[in-house]
Amino acid sequence: MPTEESRPTDKSPRPRADRAAAPDTVKQEALEPFREDADGQLLTTDQGLRINDDQNSLKVSPRGPSLLEDFILREKITHFDHERIPERVVHARGAAAHGYFQVYKSLSRYTKAAFLQDPSKKTPIFVRFSTVAGSRGSTDLARDVRGFAVKFYTDEGNFDLVGNNIPVFFIQDAVKFPDLIHAVKPEPHREIPQAASAHDTFWDFISLMPESTHMIMWVMSDRAIPRSYRMMEGFGVHTFRLVDGKGTTRFVKFHWKPLLGVHSVLWDEALKISGKDPDFHRRDLWEAIEAGAYPEWELGLQVIEEADEHKFGFDLLDPTKIVPEELVPVERVGRLTLDRNPDNFFAETEQVAFHPGHVVPGIDFTDDPLLQGRLFSYTDTQLLRLGGPNFHEIPINRPVAEIHNNQRDGLMRQTINRGRVAYHPNTLGGGCPMQAGRAAAGFVTYPEAISGQKVRERGEKFFDHFSQATLFWNSQSDPEKQHIVQALRFELGKVEVLTIRERMVGVLAQVDRTLAGMVAEGLGLTVPAKVDGQLNHSVPADADPKKFQPIHLKQKVANSQALSMANTVKDTAKTRKVAILAADGVEEDAVGTMQRALTAAGAISKIVAPHGGTLEGAGGGEVPVDFSLLTVGSVLFDAVFIPGGAPSTRALAGDASAVLFVREAYKHCKAIAASGTGLAVLEAAEIDAQDVLTRREGVTAQMAEAFLKAIAQHRDWSRETKAQKVPA
Ligand code: HEM
Repeated sequence: MPTEESRPTDKSPRPRADRAAAPDTVKQEALEPFREDADGQLLTTDQGLRINDDQNSLKVSPRGPSLLEDFILREKITHFDHERIPERVVHARGAAAHGYFQVYKSLSRYTKAAFLQDPSKKTPIFVRFSTVAGSRGSTDLARDVRGFAVKFYTDEGNFDLVGNNIPVFFIQDAVKFPDLIHAVKPEPHREIPQAASAHDTFWDFISLMPESTHMIMWVMSDRAIPRSYRMMEGFGVHTFRLVDGKGTTRFVKFHWKPLLGVHSVLWDEALKISGKDPDFHRRDLWEAIEAGAYPEWELGLQVIEEADEHKFGFDLLDPTKIVPEELVPVERVGRLTLDRNPDNFFAETEQVAFHPGHVVPGIDFTDDPLLQGRLFSYTDTQLLRLGGPNFHEIPINRPVAEIHNNQRDGLMRQTINRGRVAYHPNTLGGGCPMQAGRAAAGFVTYPEAISGQKVRERGEKFFDHFSQATLFWNSQSDPEKQHIVQALRFELGKVEVLTIRERMVGVLAQVDRTLAGMVAEGLGLTVPAKVDGQLNHSVPADADPKKFQPIHLKQKVANSQALSMANTVKDTAKTRKVAILAADGVEEDAVGTMQRALTAAGAISKIVAPHGGTLEGAGGGEVPVDFSLLTVGSVLFDAVFIPGGAPSTRALAGDASAVLFVREAYKHCKAIAASGTGLAVLEAAEIDAQDVLTRREGVTAQMAEAFLKAIAQHRDWSRETKAQKVPA
């Protein structure tokens, strides 16, 4: 006879829809009990014992040996000894922020995901941006893909959109991921170079893997050296599925479109920023949020009916391909806002664990073979990185949805599961926790129809490795093309083995012969007239290499506007940093007028001077200095203004670092303005005043307006060729 305790109860599940929807503050409230604030508190051990002396260890006499008894010393040193955890095997360097996501209107026509239904609902999110190849301490400005990982804390569980700032990837199949990463990481015998793809092993691999060519075009473009995390696009890369309330499924590509536009720096700048401020992107994100200039992106969807799966000149399951926006427009469906910096880098940014397999009902996977491999990789790596199976209990990783299951124990378990039942089915626990029916938002995998043989092969269209690389090249503006050529010359110029360079020029010839010719010229090579031997070396042992050679499929789109940063948003100077170059004797009026105009437009101005402290103004006032020339360079700013004041501009014109400051800004095609005697500094820098904004009489509102317009343009590329002649 079942006892009272063992009899199944009539407990019914609480459907999530019935519960009050969590407000966007729910994640912050959940983090609150874990936050510690030492303000006004006494120092204690980890056991809560108050410490009287944190300066001296316990010894036998002042000069005598230390005692093992000193439990306070042992606790402190032991904890310190264990402070480090393994860095991420990729994407080790990153920065993150909290925020929220809001959909513009219900997306019930596409998906049943609860967080995409109600426009009044703010879903808390945590976003981590990263570089891929470098170690935790590497520079932010490496030429690299940027990770763009978003964790949505939805009422139905966490949804992670673990994407990049480039819409395609290097490889088509997860089995090649370790090879790719081994090739790009520092070479193993001497661990050189850090956070750089410009070395032999990377290009050796790439030159043998034509499937990487499309991605290489993006990575050699300025997309790989963003001006700011806030000015990057984001992409889910793989094709995912949306599933609506009736069970109808559609394919989807996810996009993030930054409201400030997509902007990058130049390679020469990136190299210099890496010296002046290797934390440039991390600092930029932090400072923008602290200043209340909250970074924003719109979520974009490219939705494709299931029936249209095979209508394109590429395979939707191939992660080295985009769906051109001319074929399927991007619908902007909601907004992501980052409005809070983390309290603690390690606890939040370092310990956050993203996983493309974290989905909610209404979002599902496709058979993209790269995505499928990723579905295995993330939990596996996090088990090691975060030390065991309970990392979902770390505050930043906990969903706001309740967790009830029969998983138990393991290292560092925090949850105190009550009761005697940890299995299902059971009667002793009344059958709880119960499985959730569809009505209770239980996740049901989309029942995709599959048939076929088990093979180690790829779809036919996967072998069109060059058409979209050519599309990317053809869609770039002239300055962007020049930058790609220069990047390839730089990268391949660092390659020591000649045959690798030659092979790569042969691959580039498949994209565009002019491109290959320009790169070859810089390397002192010639473009081969035809392919010499095998292009694709990613071939199984017993296969016929001929069957693996790249094919060319007819594409409907030859030029896509969305691929060029020349067509991005250029209507705002918001959050742009402007250096006001000044010395003692500067005209306070000119500084004040320009500062007011910049601030009113949401730009940030900083006084940069030969010395710190304050400057004595021409009118006898004091002008506080933000940075001395020694500590910054114009590469850390978007624009430069040189106000008049004869003693000030005389001093600057005679100061080599001030002259270099202006020359570099000019070389990097940034907006420059000079008023009054400020023109003398331009002259000293050998800059043609025609190319910049000048006014001999002083600053007016019109001049400030014109300057702001120029800043909003990001760069004046028309100056670039000429500017290369300026020594900087
Ligand atoms: C088979 C291919 C791939 C494998 C095996 C793989 C594996 C990994 C691993 C092991 C990590 C470290 C995770 C951690 O320690 O928490 C990682 C991080 C990451 N991966 Fe991948 N990855 C692959 C492809 C991609 C692709 C195609 C994308 C972009 C769509 C991507 C985006 C990211 C991002 C953004 C992170 C950093 C997440 C964070 O900020 O913590 N990965 N990946």
